[in-house]
Formats: sequence, structure tokens, C-alpha cells
Amino acid sequence: VPTTDALFVLFGAMGDLAKRKLIPGLYHLYLAGLMPKDFRIIGTSPTEIKMETQLFQTHVHESLANFGRKEIEEESFSIFSKKISYIPADTTDFSKLQEAIHANKAALSEGAKTILYLAIPPPAFIPVIDALGASGIAKEAQLVIEKPFGSDLATAKELNSAIHRSFDEESVYRIDHFLGKEAVQNILALRFANGIFEPSWNHDSIDYVQIDIPETLTIEGRGAFYEKTGAFRDMVVTHLFQVLGFLAMDPPERLDGISLNKAKTSLFKAMRPITKDDVIYGQYAGYLDQPGVAPNSCVETFVACRIWIDNDRWAGVPFYLRTGKAMATGRWLLTLGFKVPDLNRFHTSGLSNEHSSPNELVIDMADPGSIEINFMTKKPGPSLTLASASLNFNFLDNFNVAYELEAYERLIHDVMIGDRALFNEAEGIETLWEASAPLISDPPRPLAYEQGSYGPPEALETLISPYRWYLH
Ligand code: BG6
Repeated sequence: VPTTDALFVLFGAMGDLAKRKLIPGLYHLYLAGLMPKDFRIIGTSPTEIKMETQLFQTHVHESLANFGRKEIEEESFSIFSKKISYIPADTTDFSKLQEAIHANKAALSEGAKTILYLAIPPPAFIPVIDALGASGIAKEAQLVIEKPFGSDLATAKELNSAIHRSFDEESVYRIDHFLGKEAVQNILALRFANGIFEPSWNHDSIDYVQIDIPETLTIEGRGAFYEKTGAFRDMVVTHLFQVLGFLAMDPPERLDGISLNKAKTSLFKAMRPITKDDVIYGQYAGYLDQPGVAPNSCVETFVACRIWIDNDRWAGVPFYLRTGKAMATGRWLLTLGFKVPDLNRFHTSGLSNEHSSPNELVIDMADPGSIEINFMTKKPGPSLTLASASLNFNFLDNFNVAYELEAYERLIHDVMIGDRALFNEAEGIETLWEASAPLISDPPRPLAYEQGSYGPPEALETLISPYRWYLH
């Protein structure tokens, strides 16, 4: 439980993310007894959104009713909602907001944290950050900032220098909610607490790696946003690369923010610059008819790519990454394919090995997830015949509880206790944009794919050959 009181200032309080994730997240933390002894929440948006505290409290109630994963307990909600207020604020004048912050902090104990959460559209990042600096609000506050962190190297650098004009790096929490998923943290446990895995976590034993995050949802009314972003910027350069970081980094010295970011950044530095030769873009049939989408749009709703990491650990091992909207299924799967031993001795001994399949470690990152190991075994019977077999570990069956905190909740809690292990630093993000620069400046044309499929056939065949996607 956080030991210091906290004031949350939620920028973009009327937006989608606040409604779906942040407001329910704060309430769930409250129900779970994980909020500080006392806290306040100020919602803020630009002045053109007409709103008052009472209306905002109703909005909060609606958000919980529509998107909360727990029933609203009316009694506790009435206490929770008394801690919430709303202040409209335009970047040209943050004085009223500043007064509200002072007034709210006066009600909290000495040393209470001020947490400024920017859940706002990317073009508003720099103006809001500059206004926070100019008004003095930034002083001694923590800044939480949502992706996308820029749209290329130059804009990421601009954003980072704007942040550093007003905040010390230690007060900045660049949030990527995938890092709050139980399964991503479990990669640390799996790799660094087990003698079975870590010694073979390299090119001697591993043949290929897949990070596969297909989604069934379409762009669903987010056409205007998506047209500026596309799947590579929305998902790959952010979530998939961060998962890749945890999966492939060298062992960090410690499991704290500084060491983890250092290990991830040196991995990202070893990434070979990504060009269109290793990438397939797709666009689902029907995308062009969505509101806000240009009739001749070349924006990708699907990406499959092959990433090479030119370091000692991973030389020659392809990392296949795939994600897309309107696909056949919604999963978060990591697959490590192990090199197969020479099966010739089965062959020369006249024994059947025709059903041999790859050894795989498959991590299902759903909450609560599972881990599967696929291997070869002897089929019971008089002859030495091989058959594939599988070991399964399921978190729910083993621990008898579902996840306790949803990704955003876990990360908001980390901000309150000042734990930066799961947040990203400027250098790592800039390194990823640098590696992506050739692709961004010369992207492939998206190929068509049917809704409900696994993407364009080229991604299922040419790119992944001689392997196959675990999901196909
Ligand atoms: C968001 C992307 O960051 O992550 C969305 O903007 C995507 O496009 C979402 O759907 C996926 O998150 P999750 O946790 O639902 O897999």
C-alpha cells in the first residue's frame, strides 16, 4: 500500500482511455485497499468540454458501470466520489488548475505526491507539458505519459526534450500497459529463476521466436486516430518491441528500472535496422469504408515482421512478430522454437520419426495465462515410435486465483509507490525509432486480407518460411 497520500490530476479525463481503463483502475485499487490512506482525483480537459464536478462524478459512475470489471459498491463509491472533482483547463491558462491542486493538496498529509497523468491525444503532449512547466505545476510532481512517444525518431526526441525542460527523468513514467501484464513480468521469473530455461535462452538452442498478438477488434470508430498511426506505430514499436525487450535482453544486473532499461536499451541497440524486405503490411477488407479513413488509404492494420538481433546471444535467430486488427482470434502468444537434434539415428534404426514436431515453449500471455512445453516422447507400445506430447501449466488452476490487478492498475500502483521497473526510459524508445527509421521512410504497400483471417497469405507463407506460425 502506498505510504504517502496522492493527488491524481487526470488530463484527458473525458477521453476513452480514462473511461475504459484509468477511472475503473483507480476505483479497483480503492476497492482492493491499495490506494494511499488519503487521495484526491482532479479530472481535467480543455475548457471547451462543459463539465462540472457533479456531472463528472456521474461520468465516473457510468464509466465504472460500463467498463469496470467489478460491481460498483454504492456505499464505497459515495466515499470515493467525494474525493473527485473536475476543473476545465486550457493550456493558455493553468492558474485555476494550479489553485485546485493547492487546495486539494492542503487536504492531504504533508509530502503527498502529485501525479499528473496525461491521457490526451499526442498533439496535446508538448503544449500541456510546457504549460505544466510554465505554471510551476510540474515542480515536484510525477508525470505519467501514455504512448505513442512520438511518431518517429525526430518527434520522439522533441517530446523527450520537452519533458526534460520541465521534469527530471526520475519523475517521468512512460507507460506501456503491456508491461503491466502478469505474463510479461512472468518472463522475468521464468528466465531468471529457472536453471532449465536461462542456459538455453540463446542461439545455441533456440531456432526462432514468435511474438504473436492478433486482435479480433476492428478499428471501431477510431479511424481518424488510426489513419495517423497504423499498426506498426500503435502496436509494434510500442507493445511488441517492449515484450521483445523482456524476452530477449541479457540478464539485467538487478530487477529495477535502471537495470531493466539498460538491458533493454542495449538489446534494442543490437537490433538490425528494419527494412521493408523483412516486413509485410496488411489492410483488412472493409477498412476503407470506416468513418475517418481516406478512400485510398495505405495505412496498415496488420504487420508481420522478421527482426534480427545482431549480438552474441541471438545471432542468426529470426524473431517473428505479428499483430493486426480484425483477425481470426485475439491472443497474446510467445513461442520459442528449439533446435531439433539430429533424428537420423531413429531413421537409420528403421524407427518412425515422421510425426516429429518442433520443441516449443509457448507462453500464453492472457490474464491468467498458461505455459506449454511441446516435446517428443515415445509412443506406448512395442516399438520405439515417436509421438508429440505437451506439458501444460495454467496459472488459474495452480494458484486458484485469477489475476489480482489488471495491467493499468498494477502500473498506476507502481507510480504511487515510486517503482519505475516497468516504465520506459527515453533512450530505449529513441533507439527503437532509430531501428525503425528505414521502414518508416520506405514502408511496403499493405496487402489485402479478409476479416477473420490470420492476415495476408504472404505473411503466413513467405515471411515465416521454413517455419510456421504457432497460430495459423
Ligand atoms: C492499445 C492500442 O495501446 O493497445 C490498441 O492502441 C490495442 O489499438 C490495445 O487494441 C491492445 O491492448 P490489450 O491490453 O487489450 O491487448
